[in-house]
Amino acid sequence: MAARKNILTLLEMKQAGRKITAVTCYDYTTAQWVSRAGVDMILVGDSAAQVVFGYESTLPATMDMMVMLTAAVRRGAPDVCLAADMPFLSYQTSPSDAVRNAGRFVQEADAQIIKMEVSAAYLDAVKAVSDAGMAVMAHIGIRPQSITKLGRLKAEGTTAELAYELIELSEKVVQAGASSLLVEGTAREAAGIIARECPVPVISCGSGPDCDGQILVISDILGLSSGSLPKFSKRFADLGRTVEEAVAAYAQEIREGRFPDDSQCYHIKAGELEKLTQILSRGSRNQ
Ligand code: KIV
Repeated sequence: MAARKNILTLLEMKQAGRKITAVTCYDYTTAQWVSRAGVDMILVGDSAAQVVFGYESTLPATMDMMVMLTAAVRRGAPDVCLAADMPFLSYQTSPSDAVRNAGRFVQEADAQIIKMEVSAAYLDAVKAVSDAGMAVMAHIGIRPQSITKLGRLKAEGTTAELAYELIELSEKVVQAGASSLLVEGTAREAAGIIARECPVPVISCGSGPDCDGQILVISDILGLSSGSLPKFSKRFADLGRTVEEAVAAYAQEIREGRFPDDSQCYHIKAGELEKLTQILSRGSRNQ
């Protein structure tokens, strides 16, 4: 059996200059396939609120929802380094809430990394979770949980001043105890500097190729997402079309009486049909 990957594996990969491969995932079955594909890390992102539950933003994700999905993914991918995403209001309320909720992912779902969307206001939450013995992934750059305040999500680090602020923030989160970073939707140049300067693994989600690794949302990779993808994403298959065609073919065979055929049927044991016929005829005589 392969050894389970963890935060140390990711750090060693950074130090050796080997790219870290990561993907989001939200269920047991897909996690099995993702694990077979050999990725290093799975993130059970709060994007589950959109991808799995059909909400418009990530804000409706709850701890109970996220813990259940993370535990399912762990059952499907026992050896992958598993990161879980702290949903909106699971850590913004206080550092002690952050520790309690992060701990649920570790105790109840066997997660190894706790991801939090972080601004300078949440360094105490990063420190508290890290001090409690958990590996924190600080998510900087575009932070979808701030959509209500910002009104829209747009690329980050696109001016010298904004890039500098982000680089400073990356230093502060590492000082606070973050063991890794996820940089979303940030100018390639700024993300590259962050990856070069930070001693911990820096994963890019739409922040260019100069980071230590890459992550994308699984439904985008597989071609299951409806509508257009973000500029930074890429489709590697057209499973949505495959699903549609397969289910349409199934429905067509049912309508035409071609499914199921005898090869999909169980049969009564030899001699039992005759007995049943007798029982039935006796029953009808008694009426
Ligand atoms: O929630 C999520 O899936 C994420 C990824 C976009 C990195 O944060």
